[in-house]
Amino acid sequence: MMATIGVVASAAGGVEQLREGLVQPLIERGHVVALTVTPTAGGWLDRTGERTKLAELTGLPVRSEPRFPDEDTPHPQIDLYVAAPWTASSTAKLSLGIADNQALTALCESIATVPVIVFPRVNAAHARQPAWPDHIARLRAAGVQLIYGDDVWPLAEPRAAGPRVLPWPAIISAVETLEAGRS
Ligand SMILES: Cc1cc2nc3c(=O)[nH]c(=O)nc-3n(C[C@H](O)[C@H](O)[C@H](O)COP(=O)(O)O)c2cc1C
Repeated sequence: MMATIGVVASAAGGVEQLREGLVQPLIERGHVVALTVTPTAGGWLDRTGERTKLAELTGLPVRSEPRFPDEDTPHPQIDLYVAAPWTASSTAKLSLGIADNQALTALCESIATVPVIVFPRVNAAHARQPAWPDHIARLRAAGVQLIYGDDVWPLAEPRAAGPRVLPWPAIISAVETLEAGRS
């Protein structure tokens, strides 16, 4: 079945692969994709021209700012959210309910009612931050499906791994599984 998928991305390494790695494959599978990015990720995607390409590909604006009170939302209703790549900072904020940008607002208000997949694109130093295990546990307890662990994303030390291809096949497969269970 076709779904309207809210892809939400933040300023993590590999966000430049978002179009080819995730958005294009989801559209090829017949899904509608509505993309929201954090303000920092929006700046990165503007700088390379990717935001325009993503808007053309999805047929929807790539949101990074909240709407004004007198404006309608520019995105359709979302069946399923995928947050990828998702920084350590945005993971912590999502766990705590800190909705200080449009990307987090969308996720925070939907987390209890709409299926959410999160790929925390973190390194070993992020995971050593003392609150990190609590953030992960709280998201799991809320029913969030995490793409996380040695099988999909072994944690590397900062600056040790160089550029890494993100685990797009695992993310897409999680979408397909959740989507199949939705109907
Ligand atoms: C080139 C570059 C790559 C980064 N990659 C990551 C990353 O992979 N994971 C992460 O958690 N933070 C990463 N950061 C740090 C985040 O961009 C930073 O914490 C930022 O405030 C996150 O904002 P956002 O989550 O609102 O997008 C990176 C920063 C830079 C400059």
